[in-house]
Amino acid sequence: MTDTLHLRGGAASLILDLSAPAPVVAHWGARLDDEIVDPSLLIGPVPHSSYDDPESLELVPQASSGWRGRPALAGHRAGRSFSPRLVTVGHRELGTDGHEITLADVEVEVTLVVELHLSDEGMLRIRSRLTNDGSTNYQLQSLVTVLPVGPAAAEILDLTGRWCREQHPQRHPITQGTWLRAGRHGRTGHDSSLLFAAGSAGFGNRHGRVWAAHLGFSGDHEGYLEKTPCGPAMLGMGELFGPGEITLAPGERYSTPWTYSAYSDSGIDGITQVFHRWLRARPGHPVSPRPVMLNTWEAVYFNHDLNTLTELAESAREVGVERFVLDDGWFRHRRNDSAGLGDWFVDETRWPDGLTPLIDAVVSRGMQFGLWVEPEMVNPDSDVIRAHPDWIAGPGFGRIPRPWRHQQVLDLVNPDAWNWLFERLDALLRENDIAYLKWDQNRDLAEMGHDGRPSVHAQTLAVYRLFDALRSAHPEVEIESCSSGGGRVDLGILERTERVWASDCNDALERQTIQRWTQAVLPPELVGSHIGPPTAHTTRRAHDLSFRATTAIFGHLGLEWDIRHVTGTARAELKQAIALYKAARALLHSGVTVNADLPDPAFALHGVVAQDASEALFAFVCVATSFAETPGRIGIPGLDATRRYRVEVVFPSGNDAYLQRAAPGWLSGGAKASGLYLAEVGLPMPILAPEHSILLQVTAL
Ligand code: DGJ
Repeated sequence: MTDTLHLRGGAASLILDLSAPAPVVAHWGARLDDEIVDPSLLIGPVPHSSYDDPESLELVPQASSGWRGRPALAGHRAGRSFSPRLVTVGHRELGTDGHEITLADVEVEVTLVVELHLSDEGMLRIRSRLTNDGSTNYQLQSLVTVLPVGPAAAEILDLTGRWCREQHPQRHPITQGTWLRAGRHGRTGHDSSLLFAAGSAGFGNRHGRVWAAHLGFSGDHEGYLEKTPCGPAMLGMGELFGPGEITLAPGERYSTPWTYSAYSDSGIDGITQVFHRWLRARPGHPVSPRPVMLNTWEAVYFNHDLNTLTELAESAREVGVERFVLDDGWFRHRRNDSAGLGDWFVDETRWPDGLTPLIDAVVSRGMQFGLWVEPEMVNPDSDVIRAHPDWIAGPGFGRIPRPWRHQQVLDLVNPDAWNWLFERLDALLRENDIAYLKWDQNRDLAEMGHDGRPSVHAQTLAVYRLFDALRSAHPEVEIESCSSGGGRVDLGILERTERVWASDCNDALERQTIQRWTQAVLPPELVGSHIGPPTAHTTRRAHDLSFRATTAIFGHLGLEWDIRHVTGTARAELKQAIALYKAARALLHSGVTVNADLPDPAFALHGVVAQDASEALFAFVCVATSFAETPGRIGIPGLDATRRYRVEVVFPSGNDAYLQRAAPGWLSGGAKASGLYLAEVGLPMPILAPEHSILLQVTAL
């Protein structure tokens, strides 16, 4: 092979054969040090009843070169020019880790530029742009990024969910056919798979080979794994368009979102490490200590009252809160969720002196002030929609989509609506001392249209432009992405925000799973996690404070609870948990996420190990009753095998987590052992009550 492109990064290699008419994927997976030099290694057999030439695996699979699965590009010109024969016409390097390969079909009159980057961390980013070179419209139906997964892949793992139960894994064997996950919510969606992975049989948290991908986009999308009789399994991702949504006029182009892919030979944790390291290396990644927040939603809901909120602010300060966020209910007409969305003026009846008295109360107590907004939405019962009924997005003919939480979507493709909204948000930020926006989005974009044409794509880009314009006008303001909890968690929105609200569910048991899988991609510092009230509002499940706190500490900690009435030992324990988070956040927000593989599903052990392995914080969690009398020895992985460590329980300090007549020998004085011993032999863990957990601090001696 004379023209080979071999990209290496982290544990991964991508090898493309550029000598063929169109680029061929010779390898995506384990890092290889040698180039593939022998072209015969890429030539497979030719079966009976097949094309005369062996199949090749193109970077842009197309029917014209024998691909019989889903093509990467689908489109036409009024039913013609439907089958592109894209051939490579150019290749150039981009920066230190990137390449751009240009393909074209001069008769179908399209040019496709594929941009690839494989970073030092092992993150492979790919995006493409298609240009209509013809003199008629080109109707684009789909343009996806596709990569083969390795021959060892035998199982698929992806994530799904619903409101209050986001990011739950599901897995099954790879069989022939297509496993397709489509999101038609106009937002990322509660059921969206943050990670789409294929791995070797039985791959786990820390073992097995895994090929995984994520699409960085907040609109309609699809991801799939396709296995046909005639080739390897292919993992594909791209935007999903409505009928006629992407019509490229002569000279126009469409750009895909980034697809992020990673390979690991150490299970899902290896994939996680690539994502965490890559995200943390971004220039805009939040590096200041993540402040302890108090969000007023589950504390007061819509009952906004200056005295109550001032008392809450004082109580928050007293326990160690650093940022106070006023949630929904502060603007005109907003007494409940049926009216007011869109009227982004402080409600003069509840706040005769504006928000300033509350902001002063917060700021004078040394805390930052944050404010909730839901910019993309309107209630029909609002001044803005009474003045501009045509600003509601819909499918045309004056039709209004079905209401959802009494609300509709503001048509941000309409420049008048966009400009009005920007001016309102900009004014709020200019006129008030606001350090933080909780940016909510609480409905699916059903029948989303502008001028009678589908517009999820254009709306999504318009929303991104709004974030970007506000960011450039107010660079110091941090933004949280919330969408009825975790309905908009993706790397597209995270290019513009510092935090996601992973779920409206503050039930610690549900949160164990939600956070574990959200953090399969996002590092803990980006994932909002709050200590809620003793009985979770969304499940009615009751948990001790120690379990709620040990769960919430492994993220960006907040409180969402009327803590004015929390007194005595509970208040002391809350303060202890907050102090512990503050002491540990530098570690939690920079270290390596570790999830042990435990055979008993009643238990979980997860933690964060410092990059230099000098310290770690683990949680040992009992999520259910076990068949076993005791948890037995639990290995603590991820430490330096050659160093000795001290392990001690640092929280809770009381006995409320335990259900045992006597504690294991090491519990009172701490354990001392090597990293190898801790991983391979493990420690006899205490018997925990179900839905309880303990925090283990690990320090190198
Ligand atoms: C949905 C969010 O997820 C909640 O946290 C809260 O902000 C409500 N919206 C307010 O309406």
